[in-house]
Amino acid sequence: MAKEQLKIFTTKKELSNYLDFNRRNSKTVGFVPTMGALHDGHFSLIKLAAKKSDIIVCSIFVNPTQFNDPKDLEKYPRPIEEDIRKLKLSSCNVLFLPETAEMYSTEEKWHADLGEIENALEGQYRIGHYQGVTQIVKKLFDTVQADFAFFGQKDYQQFCVIQKMVRLFNIPIKLILCPTVREKTGLAMSSRNIYLSENQLKNALKLSEVLELTKRNFKLKSLEQLKTEAFSILTKDDDIKPDYFEICTMDDLKPATMKDKPLIALVAAYVGTTRLIDNIILN
Ligand code: PAF
Repeated sequence: MAKEQLKIFTTKKELSNYLDFNRRNSKTVGFVPTMGALHDGHFSLIKLAAKKSDIIVCSIFVNPTQFNDPKDLEKYPRPIEEDIRKLKLSSCNVLFLPETAEMYSTEEKWHADLGEIENALEGQYRIGHYQGVTQIVKKLFDTVQADFAFFGQKDYQQFCVIQKMVRLFNIPIKLILCPTVREKTGLAMSSRNIYLSENQLKNALKLSEVLELTKRNFKLKSLEQLKTEAFSILTKDDDIKPDYFEICTMDDLKPATMKDKPLIALVAAYVGTTRLIDNIILN
């Protein structure tokens, strides 16, 4: 059966009315929050959402409060016509496309107690980033009231932080972590990849390569050896400037000291002026 036309709502009220009506008819709602510039990673989330829920809502909102660099916010890609065209071809039923004033009508102070995880890894380099992320995700969750929300593993720390926020506010939603989607080369898909030149695309492969190497050597070497080796590969030439390469416990993202728990290796690095992140589950 042909999919109904994609519905596009720009206000919380219109979206809530539509979803309330569907919920009254026992429909479940799956939610994929995004900042647009949609790629196959996003569409894999939409596909998984379609398997689990009746109505699939995708939001596109470039959230100003999670950018600590105004230039990064200004240049963030916004190919909205292209995104809508692609969404119409996907299983997505509803696009929520609010303006900034719809999500932030008044100036508001926000601070959620996210604990140590907020300041680890990404948190050291992007001060306030996770407060901004949780602020907007809370607003989106309150509006959509979805049964499930889908997030990619590439942003694993974001997933952990959102999980913490959901527990903190007792939000009745199930978060689903979905595998990272990669280019054939191994590069993790990201909206930021469009900034990379042909040469930088090649250099960016070092991130996934070093993660794969760490996984291959996981049983053979100590955690210290694995980290030192990865970092020295990343810093070998000038094309990449790593912020960190860390091996952490999966549950709380604390630096791992032993191999007896589920562990994850995470990396962040600049390729030219583009900052990329990636990770791999080790055991
Ligand atoms: O991962 C993203 O695209 C964003 O951080 C999110 C979750 C949509 C919040 O703005």
